[in-house]
Amino acid sequence: MDKNFNYSTLKLGIIGGGQLGKIISQKAKKMGFHVTILDPTFNCPAAQVSDKQIVGGFYDAEKLEQLVQESDVTTFEIEHVDTGILKKLYDHGHQIHPSPYLIELIQNKYAQKKLLAEQGIPVPRYKDIETEEDLSAFGFPVIQKAKREGYDGKGVMLLRSEADLQNRIQTDSFIEEMVDIDKELAILVARNSQDEIKCYPIVEMLFDERVNICDIVMAPARLTEEIEQKIVDISVASIRALDGVGIFGVELFLTKKGEILVNEIAPRPHNSGHYTVEACATSQFEQIIRAVTNLPLGSTKLISPAVMVNLLGEEGYEGEPIVEGIHDALKIPELSYHFYGKSFTKPFRKMGHITVLDDHVDDALKKATEAKNIIKIKGSKKV
Ligand SMILES: Nc1ncnc2c1ncn2[C@@H]1O[C@H](COP(=O)(O)OP(=O)(O)OP(=O)(O)O)[C@@H](O)[C@H]1O
Ligand SMILES: [Mg+2]
Repeated sequence: MDKNFNYSTLKLGIIGGGQLGKIISQKAKKMGFHVTILDPTFNCPAAQVSDKQIVGGFYDAEKLEQLVQESDVTTFEIEHVDTGILKKLYDHGHQIHPSPYLIELIQNKYAQKKLLAEQGIPVPRYKDIETEEDLSAFGFPVIQKAKREGYDGKGVMLLRSEADLQNRIQTDSFIEEMVDIDKELAILVARNSQDEIKCYPIVEMLFDERVNICDIVMAPARLTEEIEQKIVDISVASIRALDGVGIFGVELFLTKKGEILVNEIAPRPHNSGHYTVEACATSQFEQIIRAVTNLPLGSTKLISPAVMVNLLGEEGYEGEPIVEGIHDALKIPELSYHFYGKSFTKPFRKMGHITVLDDHVDDALKKATEAKNIIKIKGSKKV
């Protein structure tokens, strides 16, 4: 997209129509762009706020091609897609960012880790699994990960002892040393094709222990300046190593010994960056649009400390979602409520989120925890 491009007619294509695609689309509409969503679910969250939906799966080459042909630039809210057709279109000069070659690399967690390690980025010790004996190569406990298709902790298995080998993941996998984690951190890095790079504040991710889903994000993370600088340097080096254009969620571990290790990189907006909608000068969702349409990146300044809480489907329910407690929760000051418009809830499904601002992140955490205890996403059927 060169300087003479008329941005008033820009057509943006988004592969994936969940909550990430929805908020990207809302920001794109703010900027006056035309948005088309590709998603298999008719009237998915993003389609509800977009100009057009192509109903099709992420491995449907014909539908992917249609989206790219109809769009000036195509981007992703999900990395689990068929890259074959996208690579062909990219090679023919279509604007697809991040490049499908990078998406393909990131789809394979093992290949991703290997490339980062080869570029000198610190990652947990890891080893490919070729034979069953390889699973015991680091002793126990050890983390086994599926190379492909993992998300929200699915595809990650803690093997505590040899006895757990019977529960091992059966698909193509690798092992990782079990890191002694002090904090789980994340940072969003945006980069455009001019190599302009901007980092957001580092955040702390807290997890729902039952299912290993990140459910609370605190911005900013409580860290020393020295550690913050190291994380920024490592994360920028990672995105340069990948030659990524777009926005990237870099997930990191701070170990109890004070080491920083990169866990994995998401090539799209990230759950840990939802807080940027209310708390930063430019949200991650506007930033990805700027990055992939070759516009200058916006300021990532933190306007206020913030805590984000995911609203997950309650255990024991599924079906049409029913929101409880909204009248009491929304009395909490500086709280912003997001509900994605998914027509079906199930236990631990991401149905919405809330972001709470305060002058101090610990006070924001108190208010957010209060709200989390009040709002419940139940369903029309008990399971
Ligand atoms: N090497 C490790 N040592 C200790 N804990 C780990 C390790 N790798 C992963 N974990 C734990 O498992 C969680 C999920 O791992 P990972 O991010 O690789 O999987 P995922 O399915 O992609 O999850 P998500 O979609 O939530 O990012 C991590 O956030 C962390 O809590
Ligand atoms: Mg992860």
